[in-house]
Amino acid sequence: MSKLVPAVRSGDVLIPALGFGTWQLENGTAVPLVEKALEVGYRHIDTAQIYGNEADVGAAIKTSGVKRDDIFLTTKVWIDQFHDGDLQRSAEISLEKLGVDHVDLLLLHWPKPEVPLAETLKALNEVQSRGLTRAIGLSNFPSAQLEEAAKLSDAPIATDQVEYHPYLSLKAVKAKADALGTSITAWSPLAQGKVAQDPVLIAIGQAHGKTPGQVTLRWLIQQGVIAIPRTSNPARIAENFDVLDFSLSEDEMTRIHGLARPDGRLGDWLDKAYAWDAE
Ligand SMILES: NC(=O)c1ccc[n+]([C@@H]2O[C@H](COP(=O)([O-])OP(=O)(O)OC[C@H]3O[C@@H](n4cnc5c(N)ncnc54)[C@H](OP(=O)(O)O)[C@@H]3O)[C@@H](O)[C@H]2O)c1
Repeated sequence: MSKLVPAVRSGDVLIPALGFGTWQLENGTAVPLVEKALEVGYRHIDTAQIYGNEADVGAAIKTSGVKRDDIFLTTKVWIDQFHDGDLQRSAEISLEKLGVDHVDLLLLHWPKPEVPLAETLKALNEVQSRGLTRAIGLSNFPSAQLEEAAKLSDAPIATDQVEYHPYLSLKAVKAKADALGTSITAWSPLAQGKVAQDPVLIAIGQAHGKTPGQVTLRWLIQQGVIAIPRTSNPARIAENFDVLDFSLSEDEMTRIHGLARPDGRLGDWLDKAYAWDAE
C-alpha cells in the first residue's frame, strides 16, 4: 500500500515531500524502522555519513522488497571531508556502506569556512557528473552562503536542509531558496517532539481529528517544504505518514506561523564565521 506523497520539483529531480529521518538510530536500530517506513509507504530516506547508520539503512532497503529506483535516498558528507579528493572518496565510501551505486541527493552537512566553498563544490559537482549522486545540495546554509554556493555550482542546488518547525521562522532562507529555485527540507520538523504538547497545535488537530505532529507535518508540506520526521516508535511511523488526507485553512497556517519565537532554534552548531538569518 502506498499513498501518493506529493513531490517537490527541484531542477531535474522530484523529491518526495515526506521522508523518514534516521539521526540517532544507531547500532542496528535503523534496520527495522526503515523497513517499517518503506512498508508504510515512505519513499524518501534521509541518512548521513556522521549518523553511522548508512550500512543499516542500505540493509533495510535491500530487505524491504521496495525497488531501489522507487526510493529517494539522501546522504550527507561530513565537514572533515570537504577538501578536493577527500569528498569524492567519502562519497564512494558512503555508497559502499549503503550498498548502492548512486544516491539521489548528496548534501554538504554544514558549511565549513576553513575550506574554500569553491573547492568543495567543485568536488561535489564532480561526484554528480560521475553519476554517484543524481542531485547535490546543502544543509544548514544560511541565505548568504546558500546564494554563494548556488553561484559557484554548475549543477543546481536541489535543497538546503535546515532546521524548521513551528517555533522557528525561516522567512529569509525560504525566500532566498524560492528565488534560486532551490527546495527547503525541514530537519527536526517536529521540534524533536515538542510540538506534541503545544495547545495551538492540539486545538487545530482536534478540529481535523489529527495529532499535533500530523498538523505540523501538514503545515510544512502545505508550504511546499519537504519534511523528514524521525521516530523510533513503529506506530508513529504510520502516524507521521498519515498527513495526506486533510488540509489546513489559511487562518490555521497563519496561527502556526505565529508560534515562531527568537529562542526557538534547537540545533545551533553553525560556525561563528557565519550567522543565521535574523528571521
Ligand atoms: N542536516 C542536519 O544537520 C540535521 C540535523 C538534525 C536532524 N536531521 C534529520 O532530520 C531528521 C528529523 O529530525 P530529528 O530527528 O532531530 O527530530 P524530529 O523528527 O523533529 O523529532 C524526533 C523526536 O520526536 C518524537 N516524535 C516522532 N514522531 C512524533 C509524533 N508524531 N508525536 C510526538 N513526538 C514524536 C520522537 O520520539 P519517538 O522516537 O519516541 O517517537 C523523537 O524524539 C533526523 O532524523 C535527520 O534525518 C538533519
